[in-house]
Amino acid sequence: MSTSGKSVIKKIRKAACPGSFDPVTNGHLDIIGRAAHLYDEVVVAVLINKNKSSLFTVEERIEMLTEVTAGYGNVRVDAFHGLLVDYCRTNEIDVIVKGLRAVSDFDYELQMAQMNRGLAGIDTLFMPTNPEYSFLASSLVKEIATYGGDVAGLLPEPVHKRLLARVEQRNDAEQ
Ligand code: PNS
Repeated sequence: MSTSGKSVIKKIRKAACPGSFDPVTNGHLDIIGRAAHLYDEVVVAVLINKNKSSLFTVEERIEMLTEVTAGYGNVRVDAFHGLLVDYCRTNEIDVIVKGLRAVSDFDYELQMAQMNRGLAGIDTLFMPTNPEYSFLASSLVKEIATYGGDVAGLLPEPVHKRLLARVEQRNDAEQ
């Protein structure tokens, strides 16, 4: 109830953090955590893309994301297929939050943001990534881990463990 006696219904501000998250890195987690401070509810939306080969299944990616975001009371993890804006509309999400690592990210991200706004009026908020993670990408982490490089500081611990196990499994299968 407001001081004027009229009841005020506060709209829940929801944001989506979309991506492939194959697997989630410390860079992703930094953006998710910062979004969780800005919005009432954050939905980490994992894209189901049957045309792209991945190291982890969508279920495994959801499991890892759920584990590493468990400390935030307002973050949930979900999967979607099709257009991101359709998912946002169905779930009453009005903002997409994306991390920008470097200028190289900007062109494509701007194009998608403008397209998404044109399609559905859904805005994209760009967050500069923590400089500590500006070089970080899931694809690089997977490649480095495959050839035995140290990626321990780049991923949450439980994800690092699962990545090493999966890489070992893959390397064994290829021998
Ligand atoms: O982690 P990624 O693979 O860089 O994430 C890209 C993602 C999932 C955010 C983007 O590909 C996406 O939104 N895909 C859903 C399909 C869609 O809405 N395409 C039109 C974009 S304008």
